[in-house]
Amino acid sequence: MKVLSRQARLPHEAPIEARGLVKRYRDVPAVDGVDLTVQPGDIYGFLGPNGAGKTTTLRMFLGLVRPDAGSVRLFGREAAKDGIGALQGVAGFIEEPRLYPYLNGRENLQLLAAFDRGGQGEAAIDEVLEMVELRDRGGDRVSEYSQGMRQRLGIASCLVRQPRLLLLDEPANGVDPAGLRYMRELLGRLSDEGITILLSSHLLAEVQQVCTRVAMISRGRIVYEGGMDELTRAAGRRYRLEAADIDRAARVCRSLPTVDDVRSDHGELSFRVDDDDGLEALVAALVDARVGIRALIPETDSLERLFFELTDEPVAVTA
Ligand SMILES: Nc1ncnc2c1ncn2[C@@H]1O[C@H](COP(=O)(O)OP(=O)(O)O)[C@@H](O)[C@H]1O
Ligand SMILES: [Mg+2]
Repeated sequence: MKVLSRQARLPHEAPIEARGLVKRYRDVPAVDGVDLTVQPGDIYGFLGPNGAGKTTTLRMFLGLVRPDAGSVRLFGREAAKDGIGALQGVAGFIEEPRLYPYLNGRENLQLLAAFDRGGQGEAAIDEVLEMVELRDRGGDRVSEYSQGMRQRLGIASCLVRQPRLLLLDEPANGVDPAGLRYMRELLGRLSDEGITILLSSHLLAEVQQVCTRVAMISRGRIVYEGGMDELTRAAGRRYRLEAADIDRAARVCRSLPTVDDVRSDHGELSFRVDDDDGLEALVAALVDARVGIRALIPETDSLERLFFELTDEPVAVTA
């Protein structure tokens, strides 16, 4: 898996190209004309509240559900025409990884490897266990694993197939904060290895921290598609400042053109900046003005608010 450089492993065709995907259940569209393109090397976030159509879309990507209209190509191949061949180099799980709880982690991977490729060497299994940091726990039954460990074993079971594209449906579900941090690092490492990743989530913070691109889905329709940076910029970034002299801090904030929407009352000061440069300029100005900064706290609700404006639906910020 580590033989090729990231560049060499990156494919040329789009890992996912979905056009006009529609799926109806009893005449009600669960997915209603989804266009979505995932480029090589993306860590692509597919964000939306529960019931928005994420799982149904992923099912269509994996050829598990036949679209009522539209098409999806993975690396240029269409599941409807190329059958199972279209899934070459693609691995993932829907809703949650299928694991045998009464077997240990290593046995789960052995079973899968045997089924998938007529048996892979133990070295490959060691390697994927190592990658998801379960090597020490490989001998323990899956029923004794935490949710985070199960999700990691699920990812390991995908890696056994040496994928170029990973499709993960809500991999952060039920995972505790330490597990989430670990999951982010793991996805970053897999991306560095040249694997393109699409993950769905109903958790804004989760997608925000790990993804390079994002599509937001609401009631079966894509309401936003673009770079995570652009989205964050569109939402703007709000911070709360705690300082020894809050009035002086507020004056400094108001004096800078890169800082806007300054609000201060009851000793609380908050403001908005567009980017890191704006924030750095402000901190420098505060230091110049000898304002003692006690804390500078990012407020995450701006992106949440933007999501609400786009979808008319609330989205969870944290689990
Ligand atoms: N097999 C099914 N039969 C009937 N309705 C379904 C089925 N699968 C999904 N739905 C409906 O489609 C909509 C989208 O569901 P889903 O794709 O699971 O959303 P998400 O994964 O974003 O929570 C929901 O209203 C859900 O009830
Ligand atoms: Mg779902």
